[in-house]
Amino acid sequence: MSSASSTDPSPRRRGVALLGSTGSIGQQALDVLDADPSFRVVALAAGRNAAELGAQARRYSPAAVALTDPDAVRELAGLVPAGTTILAGADALIELATRDDVDLVVVGTGGVVSLRPVLAALAAGKVVATANKETLVAGGHLVMPLAKERAAGRAAVDPADPLASPLGWLRPIDSEHSAIWQSLVGERLSTVARLILTASGGPFLDLPADAFAAITPERALRHPTWSMGAKITIDSATLANKGLEVIEARWLYDVGYEQIDVVIHPQSVVHSAVQFVDGSIKAQLGTPDMRLPIQYALTYPDRRPSPAAPADLVALARLDFRAPDTARFPALRIAREAGVLGPRATAALIAADDVAVARFLAGSLDFPGIPRLLEAAVTRFGTPTGADPDLDDLVALDADVRAAFATAAMGAFA
Ligand SMILES: NC(=O)c1ccc[n+]([C@@H]2O[C@H](COP(=O)([O-])OP(=O)(O)OC[C@H]3O[C@@H](n4cnc5c(N)ncnc54)[C@H](OP(=O)(O)O)[C@@H]3O)[C@@H](O)[C@H]2O)c1
Repeated sequence: MSSASSTDPSPRRRGVALLGSTGSIGQQALDVLDADPSFRVVALAAGRNAAELGAQARRYSPAAVALTDPDAVRELAGLVPAGTTILAGADALIELATRDDVDLVVVGTGGVVSLRPVLAALAAGKVVATANKETLVAGGHLVMPLAKERAAGRAAVDPADPLASPLGWLRPIDSEHSAIWQSLVGERLSTVARLILTASGGPFLDLPADAFAAITPERALRHPTWSMGAKITIDSATLANKGLEVIEARWLYDVGYEQIDVVIHPQSVVHSAVQFVDGSIKAQLGTPDMRLPIQYALTYPDRRPSPAAPADLVALARLDFRAPDTARFPALRIAREAGVLGPRATAALIAADDVAVARFLAGSLDFPGIPRLLEAAVTRFGTPTGADPDLDDLVALDADVRAAFATAAMGAFA
């Protein structure tokens, strides 16, 4: 993919495949794409929301759309324009992500469903911008070598090419990883002392430990600063989300876990930071609006005007920071320990987290049960067994974790 700049007199419109277009990230990505005529939406995919995907298809007239749920896909017929092809099933995501007319794949799906499409897209020479955590938490050991291989090919031709870095190919959308990426521009990884991931702390930052058992899904779904999908909002309340981000950071920036810190920052304005060997800290600040990091991932290395409100330091007045409390939020510790154990443990962790959050939202697990379930899954399934898991192993492991914990009584992992 060439990086067309806004000053390019005749830029070719870059084709985008958006996986997870009906979700929170997907809809915000469409907002960003709406404002930037250098892109065109070529393919859209979701899980089962036929009505919303149909509406998007009528608006963008993509070449193809897909729903992975084979029952829901039947509802799509009649909802999309005549020229739009309808595909079904998980393999359809691979087909969309590797189309000849796609330059950039934006991943806003939840779950591990996008791991195969991401690997296929990178292998086919597409740039991937991903918000999806599973891609790196479960499959970082498979994805990053591909991004590095792509980058090495470019570096051999032109070291100044934005695609000469693995981050040019596998672009983070998570605001924290985007902030680290932005702080690293112009710097060498060998001069990094620590990565500092910031966390809002969620709605229970100051709640005493003995009140955690009474937390309801309704309360946990009220995030103080970000508006996001349900799964990540609960993950933010338990700090599991920050634990997953520590694992993502390890893969994206190729640093050891001992070099990744988490700092609580309730205002969610400093999106994350990098400390260098001279003690200096570089950070990226902005309003809490995912359209900013989505846009940076789309336009890198360019910056363009954004639909997000600009940050105003005087209006903000103060920025607070404090250390996280892993006694009340053990998910952060458990995720870090899983990361140190390796890819089997992190794959078990993320499958378990999906189960735990679904059970909490359905009322069959209390809030403190979420980290207990995570720890039980990592202990039972996370021991390294020689070679790192390949794609098939990961799929099998995911199924095993779900089978073990989807209905187990809470006493089974108390
Ligand atoms: N929301 C945020 O601000 C934010 C910030 C940082 C990172 N992230 C990460 O981004 C990812 C998406 O988060 P979100 O908040 O946007 O989630 P969301 O609102 O729940 O949306 C999920 C999207 O994925 C689709 N999907 C779910 N299962 C699928 C499957 N099996 N096959 C194909 N598509 C499937 C959904 O389609 P249907 O609508 O048809 O079910 C929907 O389009 C997560 O990994 C999250 O951790 C989100």
